[in-house]
Amino acid sequence: MVPASAAVGHQSSLQVALRRLSAIKIDSGRSPSSLSLSTKAGTMSTPSKNPQRAPWRDLLDSQLKQTPGYEFTIATIGYDAQQRPVPRLRTCGCRGFFPELELHSKGQEAMDEQVEGGGNPPVFESDMLSFTTDARMEKLPQLESSGHAIEAVFWLKGLMTQWRIKGTAYAIGDPSGEDAQEEKTSRTEIRKALRVKGDTDSDIAKWTWQKAVTKYFANHSPVARGSFRNPPPGQPRSSTPSQLDLKLGQKVLDLHDPVARANFRVVVIRPEQVERLDLTDQEDGKRWNWTLSNGNDGSQWDEMEVWP
Ligand SMILES: Cc1cc2nc3c(=O)[nH]c(=O)nc-3n(C[C@H](O)[C@H](O)[C@H](O)COP(=O)(O)O)c2cc1C
Repeated sequence: MVPASAAVGHQSSLQVALRRLSAIKIDSGRSPSSLSLSTKAGTMSTPSKNPQRAPWRDLLDSQLKQTPGYEFTIATIGYDAQQRPVPRLRTCGCRGFFPELELHSKGQEAMDEQVEGGGNPPVFESDMLSFTTDARMEKLPQLESSGHAIEAVFWLKGLMTQWRIKGTAYAIGDPSGEDAQEEKTSRTEIRKALRVKGDTDSDIAKWTWQKAVTKYFANHSPVARGSFRNPPPGQPRSSTPSQLDLKLGQKVLDLHDPVARANFRVVVIRPEQVERLDLTDQEDGKRWNWTLSNGNDGSQWDEMEVWP
């Protein structure tokens, strides 16, 4: 039972959070003059709540931190030549919970030199896992043609634990900003699950989507950034790219390199169902499911322990 006073406090903090989230800049360029609130802000849907922290989040976070260099398997839905839905899976590097990426020192140096304020103030957190990708790969059109359905799986062998995260995923980073419909949709959907941290009204006004994506780009090494200037992934190696600046093995130091940034995307997974399978004790395996449901005052996670 929630005491009435706590409920009132909760209500007012929700209103504060709502006001703050609606103040996020919708679009931004590199220069301070282009950082003003876009008039497009009014056309965007704003979240109706500041979502509760998911009960599984801190455990997954702590287990990932104990696992050096973790990758996950990402499943999307594709369509075969007969237009039948088919599973498509690949390995990707997990980049933690959006937007709280911990930059390596070289990445932070690049941000300090090339991005106003060295990046966004740390005003948001979420339960949404992230990875980066190339817009020319197949997973993004597969997300768009399947209602954004995704499943991510970790096998953390050192902890004998499997995590499955099912939900929807949205890509951000299109240089056209919200003029691109997919980018606009993605920002709207991601924003619904962002949580405001602390009492930071003035900092929220400085937060931009573009800086959030640039931070992920900065977290790649110059060679890894250069991979976004590779010839088109998946196309025959015998074909010469028509764009002359697309070559293997390039190093990119400019965080706003227009060729690489045209292809670079951050994919953000909005979880709806999470499962933890703990096989530490093989004779007594343990399995938990968490499912997101809509309670009276917003989303809540229902937990159930199930047979393994
Ligand atoms: C260890 C490892 C890490 C990888 N990390 C990523 C990644 O973070 N993002 C990505 O798009 N592809 C990554 N890849 C490549 C993908 O597995 C895959 O080949 C690529 O994304 C193309 O897949 P798609 O065309 O189905 O989208 C990684 C591959 C390996 C083996």
